[in-house]
Amino acid sequence: MGKVITIRQMSAHVGEAVTLEGWLYTKTGKGRLQFLQVRDGGGICQAVVFKGNVSEEAFELARALTQESSLRVTGTVKEDTRAPGIPGGYELDVTGLEVVQIADEYPIQPKEHGVEFLVRNRHLWIRSSRQWAIMRVRATVIRAIRGWLDNNGYLNVDTPILTPNAAEGTTTLFEIDFHGEPAYLAQTGQLYSEATILAFGKVYCFGPTFRAEKSKTRRHLQEFWMVEPEIAFCDLDGLMEIEEQFVSHIVQRCLEENAEELKLLERDTSALEQVTPSFPRIHYDEAVDIVNRAAAAGELVPGYEDKVPHIEWGDDFGSPHETYIAAQFDKPVFVHHYPTQVKAFYMEPEPDRPEVCRSVDLLAPEGYGEITGGSERMADVDKLIAGIEEHELPMAAFDWYVDLRRYGTVVHSGFGLGLERTVAWICGLTHLREAIAFPRTLGSMRP
Ligand code: 4AD
Ligand code: MG
Repeated sequence: MGKVITIRQMSAHVGEAVTLEGWLYTKTGKGRLQFLQVRDGGGICQAVVFKGNVSEEAFELARALTQESSLRVTGTVKEDTRAPGIPGGYELDVTGLEVVQIADEYPIQPKEHGVEFLVRNRHLWIRSSRQWAIMRVRATVIRAIRGWLDNNGYLNVDTPILTPNAAEGTTTLFEIDFHGEPAYLAQTGQLYSEATILAFGKVYCFGPTFRAEKSKTRRHLQEFWMVEPEIAFCDLDGLMEIEEQFVSHIVQRCLEENAEELKLLERDTSALEQVTPSFPRIHYDEAVDIVNRAAAAGELVPGYEDKVPHIEWGDDFGSPHETYIAAQFDKPVFVHHYPTQVKAFYMEPEPDRPEVCRSVDLLAPEGYGEITGGSERMADVDKLIAGIEEHELPMAAFDWYVDLRRYGTVVHSGFGLGLERTVAWICGLTHLREAIAFPRTLGSMRP
């Protein structure tokens, strides 16, 4: 056995005898040569087993290896620009092989499988190189989120998952039994962050979020991750400036750190390269006009066979509307001032025109839809009480939230960015279920 190294470290060990620990990804070969594609979690490397270089026993083991067998393989690192793999460019001239386990016949074959089958075998599917690439991009997105916020004066203050009330509408609540009292899984941490900004100025919470969405769409999960920055002394315009910096940073980090993964995913990165401040901003009124002009002209939703549907002023956009609006711009676009009636109780109505509120959604290009939702919050105690009553929410559960407006209230704003929506957009995925290791979708919680 040589020194145990990782595939990523091979470039520093050219000509040396080393050992790799991993799994057999695929194998080809005939006669006296076996080409093993070995993955070790961080990369894939070709290990060449030539009959003349190994013991009879080791050669037979190589021939007997099945897909996903676990192994230790020893050999000399060779530089070869043509060598396939991730990152590629180095291969191993094998001198010894130790099999940890010959794997049973692996259910996922290199051929095409139906997506239902893959989802059911997610615990295994996660090993395939596409899924590997997506999870690595996801990790970069998380690092970029934390890095930007930590470096820009935000304090990470996490918020509870068990909560006594609804915060984002009562239709998507998961109810649980809290020792005889009803409690709910958090739909957002925002209300708590509105408390913590008054202690720390700028904060964020970042954690799992639960929505019992009744519809089965490719953009909705029952459990997803959301980062929610909240800022004291910040209005709607200030919020949009923060969001465009933040989102641009995330995308640019992925382009820098995950070129290899994005290539493997066959992601056309030219659209992502344009994601730099500032982003276009349109009023809800203007967005409605854009949609209804297209509907009147019988235009199609980009990428679909369907016509753009007409929208009544006052309604929320559906995903065909969002896709059409976003397609008019080459960057993510802010749509601000949605009708107050379609948004949450805590959003600040526009003083001169209370039928719209100081809210903003960010729509991603290429049909990825809403990736952030945010607003300026109601800062006035009486207006907030009226808002809670209007939405028929239980006042007793919100007494602490109302208190925040009694003791040093300030103009404040915040937003939530959906992690899986962001990952799906950056990776070019058609469905959110590939953007999280173990997705929970309507009617599917296995494994
Ligand atoms: O627009 P939403 O519902 O906003 C809030 O929850 C606010 N409290 C955030 C805030 O202001 N602090 O959700 C924010 C984002 C959406 O833009 C979307 O990216 C994502 O969370 N999201 C979902 N992602 C996956 N599956 C779902 N069911 C989602 N619902 C929202
Ligand atoms: Mg929203």
